[in-house]
Parts: sequence; C-alpha cells; structure tokens
Amino acid sequence: MIEKEGVPQKELLEVLEKKLSKDYEYYKGNILGSMCTSAHTFGREVYCKYVNKNLGDPGLFPGTSELEEEVVKEIGELFHGENIMGSFTTGGSEANLIAVRIAKELRPEVEEPEVVLPVSAHMSFDKAADLLGITLRKARLLSNFQLDEAHYRSLINDNTVGAVAVAGTTSLGLVDPIEEIGKMIQDKDIFFHIDAAFGGFVLPFLEKTGEGLPVPKWDFHVEQVDSITADPHKMGMNVIPSGGIFLRNEQIIQKTGFEIPYLAGGNFKHLHIVGTRPGGPVISFWALMHHLGMNGFKKVVNRCMENTQYLSEQIKTIEGINLATNPLMNIVGITTHDGQSICELDKELRMQNWMLGKFEDFNLIRIVLMPHITKIHLSKFVGDLKKVVKKLEL
Ligand SMILES: Cc1ncc(COP(=O)(O)O)c(C=O)c1O
Repeated sequence: MIEKEGVPQKELLEVLEKKLSKDYEYYKGNILGSMCTSAHTFGREVYCKYVNKNLGDPGLFPGTSELEEEVVKEIGELFHGENIMGSFTTGGSEANLIAVRIAKELRPEVEEPEVVLPVSAHMSFDKAADLLGITLRKARLLSNFQLDEAHYRSLINDNTVGAVAVAGTTSLGLVDPIEEIGKMIQDKDIFFHIDAAFGGFVLPFLEKTGEGLPVPKWDFHVEQVDSITADPHKMGMNVIPSGGIFLRNEQIIQKTGFEIPYLAGGNFKHLHIVGTRPGGPVISFWALMHHLGMNGFKKVVNRCMENTQYLSEQIKTIEGINLATNPLMNIVGITTHDGQSICELDKELRMQNWMLGKFEDFNLIRIVLMPHITKIHLSKFVGDLKKVVKKLEL
C-alpha cells in the first residue's frame, strides 16, 4: 500500500539497499552465464545526466536524435558499411523482431511468408514469428555445432521472405557461414539479416588483433547483407537497455516504418515496437565509444579472450567433461564426455552459487567470459567444477 504521507528518502534508500541485497552482483564473479555486464562507469555517468531524453518524440530532442544518427553511422562503418541507417532498441530481441517485420513488409505478395534460420538462432525469432504470423524454417547443425549449409539451402523456397544468420550464437559464440548464405540467396528477393547481438562488439576488435581463430566475413562487407542486430548492452558495456538495428538501405524506414501523427515534436516514421524510448543509452554509448576508441575496446576484448583461453585449457584437463568447441569469441561451452545430460552438472554448480547458462537442446553449459570476470573467479570456479565432476562420476 502506498502511504498517505510520503516516506523520507533516506529511509527508503535503506529499505532499497536491504531488498536489493538479494540480487547477484557482477563484481562478485559468480555470474558466469550472462551476456550482460557491469556498465562502464563513464557510460553510467553520462546516462544518469541525460536520463530524461525521449527519442519517442525526436522532434523535441533534435540534439539527441542527431547523436543517434551519428553513432549509428559510426557503428555502421565499424561493420564495413557506408551511410548505414538504423536505431537503438531495447535490446537484440526488439532489433530481431524489427528485422523480421521488415522482411515480411517488403514482400506483401507472399501470402504465407517464411524465414530461414539456423536452429541455434536466438529465441527472439520464435517470438517474432509468433507475433508476425510468419513460419520459421530451422536448419540443423552438424555435430561440431556449425550450420548444416546444405540443409539451410534446402529450406529456401518461393515463400522465403527472410534469411537469418548469426554472428555469435547465444550458446557458443559461433559465426554462421554468412558469405555462403549470401551466395545462396543472391538475386533472390530475400531480406538477409545478421544477428550479431553478441558478436557485434567483439568481432570488429578480434579482427583487428589478428589473434585466435580466423574471423569469417560477417557484416556489411558481405554484399547481400541487408541488416544487422548488435547490442551495446552486451559487449559494448553500455547501460541497459541498448540494442541496435543497422540497415543498409536508407529507404527502409520510409518504406516500412510506422507514421506517428500526434507528437508534440511533429510527425515522423519509425520502426520500433515501443513508442517512448530512452535517449540516455544512445548518448552514453556515443560518449563511451569515443572515450574508449578502437584500442580501448580491443583491450577489453583481449582480456576476455585471455580468460577464455585460460578456462578452455583448464576444461580440457578435466576428465569426464569436454570443451564443446574451440571458442572463436569469449564464450566457452562444456559438454559431458559420453553424452550424459549436463542437467545434474548445472544443478550442482548452481547449488554452489555458480550462475551458468544451460542449453538442454545442445546438452551444453555456457560460460560467457564478460569483462566483469577475472582469473581469480575462474580458478575458484574450476576448483568447484573439478569437485562436482568427480562427485557425479561423469
Ligand atoms: C544472438 C542473440 N540475439 C539476440 C539476443 C536477445 O537480446 P536481448 O536479450 O537484448 O533482447 C541474444 C541474447 O542473449 C542473443 O544472444
């Protein structure tokens, strides 16, 4: 019940501290299975300063709107595009939903629209299909978790309005064969969307270091690619909520956007599911990108990759479990040696307060080596992992 008379702020802050002490904290290191991390302090500072900006009515906030255009173009250049259009979103799910809707809108003549995608694609596409009345055709994976290209090709037909590939799968951080898929749909009227919600702010910095596994072409470099999802609130270390949809064709917003007729700032068209939307995360990411620069991001990614390497090597030494695949990005997958279910392993580790990602379909546990994770956290985790594997006799 809301009190009749307001409660003093100090008292409320104390209550909040107590209530929120139940929450997990990134710095403690037991959040091992999330793609989010503690937002960069400078980004947080900028965000708090500009928390009132509303991009749902851009005519009232032309300065914020210009910054969004600028940061979208810059991210587009990072992804090897020119004059890329787009917008910040609430996250990867909204960006993917927007992309699937565009694919459908561009082909109104197709009565039963279908989208082809790998079975490893994020479940935001299932949500999008449900909301938009689209059928998903899911291509299976090979035993090494890579996409079965032949199966993907076989699913393309006259009803296909969209093709999706992932640059940084949710389960293992793998990149689909995007150039090959581009060739499959060449000269077909199919909208090609890349989900780089996670990989968008890892791959450009891996590429430049020249270390690790070779990074396949995944972005606007591939001429058939029409749009990309990339989330600043994942490896971009920006505040939540911030995703992004990036579009090659500048006509798309005019062609497929919703016209909003009543706003105080004047009419405009947009692609969003939401109306009112925060400008703060756009401004904070603009500031963060310029503050960190290419070298700042590379440093962060390098450190995450060092930790990835360390954890992978450790897992290889534990009998009973396997590394699911050689990591390309900062995601490590653990499977059991003889195909035994990973559920018990996940349960036991969870009881010891390790918060991991569990993918039952692929029988693997996922660890995302985000910037908040240190070697000290990892060596503690490896110690517990060894004990649990022994206890379960895997
Ligand atoms: C590849 C991929 N796409 C989309 C999403 C959805 O992003 P969000 O949770 O920001 O909506 C995720 C989330 O983990 C993801 O891994």
